[in-house]
Amino acid sequence: MQTTAALHASDAANRGPILEVTDLVKRFGTGDDALLAVDRVSFAVRHGEFVSIIGPSGCGKSTLFNVIGGLLGDFDGRVAVDGEAVAGTHPAFGMVFQEESTFPWRTVIDNVAFPLELGGIGRRERHERARHFVAMVGLDGFERRYPAELSGGMRQRVAIARTLASEPRILLMDEPFASLDEQTRLLLGDKVLAIHQQLAQTTLLITHNITEAVQLSDRVLVMTYRPGRLKRTFDIDLPRPRTSEVVSSDAFGHYVAQIWSDLREEASRGIRDDESRTRERSERR
Ligand SMILES: Nc1ncnc2c1ncn2[C@@H]1O[C@H](COP(=O)(O)OP(=O)(O)O)[C@@H](O)[C@H]1O
Ligand SMILES: [Mg+2]
Repeated sequence: MQTTAALHASDAANRGPILEVTDLVKRFGTGDDALLAVDRVSFAVRHGEFVSIIGPSGCGKSTLFNVIGGLLGDFDGRVAVDGEAVAGTHPAFGMVFQEESTFPWRTVIDNVAFPLELGGIGRRERHERARHFVAMVGLDGFERRYPAELSGGMRQRVAIARTLASEPRILLMDEPFASLDEQTRLLLGDKVLAIHQQLAQTTLLITHNITEAVQLSDRVLVMTYRPGRLKRTFDIDLPRPRTSEVVSSDAFGHYVAQIWSDLREEASRGIRDDESRTRERSERR
């Protein structure tokens, strides 16, 4: 018998990409003051693929994320799901944000069951289904707790479980682990890997963390600093199923070094930019 993941994989081979982004351009403002945040970005994601977009702070990652997820309009280019152009928010996407987004007045189980409640599913069934996703992110036993009683990493897992409960075709995550310490982040990565394995979940992850990108991805796309363009693609040919142990392998170190040599230049430009803006500000005073 084939596993769900294998069925997805054989099915996927016969289909085109699930997500296509073509010549995407996003500007903020107009005229001389316009800021070109994202410039002619094109890429495609296959069914079941895990793709990360990595770039330094301020390079346009969240802008790209918000345009794809339909939260930012007024852009040029095309976002298509299964070959059909989409505009505005679209049910194919489930989004997880950097900022904490749990509902503090709801318990863990009622947070996760929220999209099912919106879908009109009765209490009993939605709790049953929500429990499945709570377990998937490793929070069984915490169903009756409130977000304030949990750590930041646990709250982010609640947010991920809630998004998974809506069974999105494409999971979009914007730096969901940015506020966590490195050890917690690595171990949470194990949860993300397990979810990807179990659900064959198509995922687009935005991150500035090289370890995270290599640990989780089939492919890593490096973005340039202002304007945000795609600079290079790395195929991460590390075996699956993976765990965080992979970070100690030679192959892993090799990918990290290669990506850093590309990213270093972009990150340096970001820092220089920050410094010159700080200088301008202090000179004006
Ligand atoms: N709503 C906005 N209005 C004007 N400028 C913005 C807006 N959102 C982002 N920017 C600018 O666009 C650039 C890219 O920002 P962002 O996409 O948030 O970068 P990242 O997520 O990579 O840190 C930055 O220079 C930022 O200041
Ligand atoms: Mg951002």
